[in-house]
Amino acid sequence: MKITSAAQPLEQVRADLLAVLFFQVAGQERGVPRSLAALDRALAGRIARVLASGDFEGKTDESLMLYSDGALPSPRLLLIGLGDSKACDLETLRRAGGASLRSALARKSKRLALVVPHSRRWTPATAAQALTEGCVLASYRFDQYRSVAERTAPPSAVSLLFERAADSRTARGGIERGQIGAECQNLARRLSDEPPNTLTPAALAREAGRVGAEVGLKVRVLGVPELRRAKCGALLAVGQGSAHPPRLITLDYTPRGKGRSAEKARRPTLCLVGKGITFDSGGISIKPSASMEEMKHDMSGAAAVLAALRGAALMQLPLRVVGILAAAENLPSGDAYRPGDILTARSGRTIEVINTDAEGRLVLADALDFAKTEYAPDAILDFATLTGACVVALGSWCSGALGSNDHLLAQVRAAGEACGERVWPLPLWEEHRRAIKSDVADIKNTGGREGGTLTAAAFLGHFTEGTPWVHLDIAGTAWTKQPCVYQTKGATGVGVRLVLEFLRGFRAETLRDYRTQRGSTGV
Ligand code: BES
Ligand code: MN
Ligand code: ZN
Repeated sequence: MKITSAAQPLEQVRADLLAVLFFQVAGQERGVPRSLAALDRALAGRIARVLASGDFEGKTDESLMLYSDGALPSPRLLLIGLGDSKACDLETLRRAGGASLRSALARKSKRLALVVPHSRRWTPATAAQALTEGCVLASYRFDQYRSVAERTAPPSAVSLLFERAADSRTARGGIERGQIGAECQNLARRLSDEPPNTLTPAALAREAGRVGAEVGLKVRVLGVPELRRAKCGALLAVGQGSAHPPRLITLDYTPRGKGRSAEKARRPTLCLVGKGITFDSGGISIKPSASMEEMKHDMSGAAAVLAALRGAALMQLPLRVVGILAAAENLPSGDAYRPGDILTARSGRTIEVINTDAEGRLVLADALDFAKTEYAPDAILDFATLTGACVVALGSWCSGALGSNDHLLAQVRAAGEACGERVWPLPLWEEHRRAIKSDVADIKNTGGREGGTLTAAAFLGHFTEGTPWVHLDIAGTAWTKQPCVYQTKGATGVGVRLVLEFLRGFRAETLRDYRTQRGSTGV
């Protein structure tokens, strides 16, 4: 799918499907917008008549197909509503992009063109990015296991049409960012949708190797012997019940050359850590069987991190980014770890296992400590489908965010608002740390039913001490059962766009503040 921008009179555009994005026009002012006047003239006033009839007002997600019957080089004209021009945002555009693409897919259209309306609520670049994301995300299907493919190929060419040539030029950066971000998001979705019999920890490591070779990342994989040498006792324990042994996978992106060495030395390093449980049965503390198949998605944090690293490399971001995936399968067996076991994590802290279903925090404990000690990063973000409690608290509307530094958290929140992957802060206090003190070890792996998301984060906080850190609980956002125009049932790839947006705005100067400031949410 090649996505380009152009400024061309609409009545001359040659596309199989021309999608026209419309703000809501109601009541008296139900006229054709000035920017579409020439198009409407070529159609002998058909758009004006449709609007006057009231059959199409331009409400959000409303659409109407018209046929130009030879009056235009484009045979189909799809009117897509954007709703009230004052309430319309980039998410509305993303959905409109998705709707256009879905319509093109249904009609096997090869050339799709989208007419981008002017608004003070976006720039040509941000609008182009959101529309591109909508198109790319809507073209995702997870159908490689269907013997009879129902798939139609997405359009080969998508053109975003602007009124002014200057806007069409500045839109190009947005198209590129949108395409990289959404394609990486689709990669995360594919990995997360992949079944647990094929996507084992070793397979995830192979995927990392493949992506690393493709975009130029240094990939390192620690298998069981290396993990033993590295004293990753918590990650090893979680994986020991499975025939598919655990892996710790690192993907290292370092910006290429140019800059003087002093500049390079000042370059920040960011670590992204992802929970990669390729299947979570709960282990000996086994889960109920209803919906257990969804636990193939329990590696969505790792998938997001892997895909975000691909994006960082393709965007050639000016900072070092290291992705660390803690991959293991949590199964019960004669070799499985048990409630009551006392583990020694890589950091040296001892952990009493209360519940083997609280495995995510265990694998992350070693991965976070690895991140902190091996890379001395300026900041750490982690992504994990960590707690059912987070799904109860926040639903699927946003991810939960907890951390040790309000400045870092504020940046993550701002990135979330900007890219449409929202996050919401939850508290992390000394009290939550106290809830996971153990009678027989340093800490225990559950803190009881109250505030499950908070005590899980407090557990992680033990392993990031001294480094600005934000934890994102994506248990409610990583997959969905309620599809929307650009999102099928299954994995969402949440986190990928968030990371890329966050990294793009990341500044070393503010980093210095992080070190000196202690946030009120701080542990
Ligand atoms: N992977 C689950 C969390 C989860 C649950 C994600 C539902 C998405 C949907 C995690 O490993 C888990 O089992 N957490 C337990 C922790 C408890 C035993 C302290 C939970 O949330 O019930
Ligand atoms: Mn679990
Ligand atoms: Zn889990």
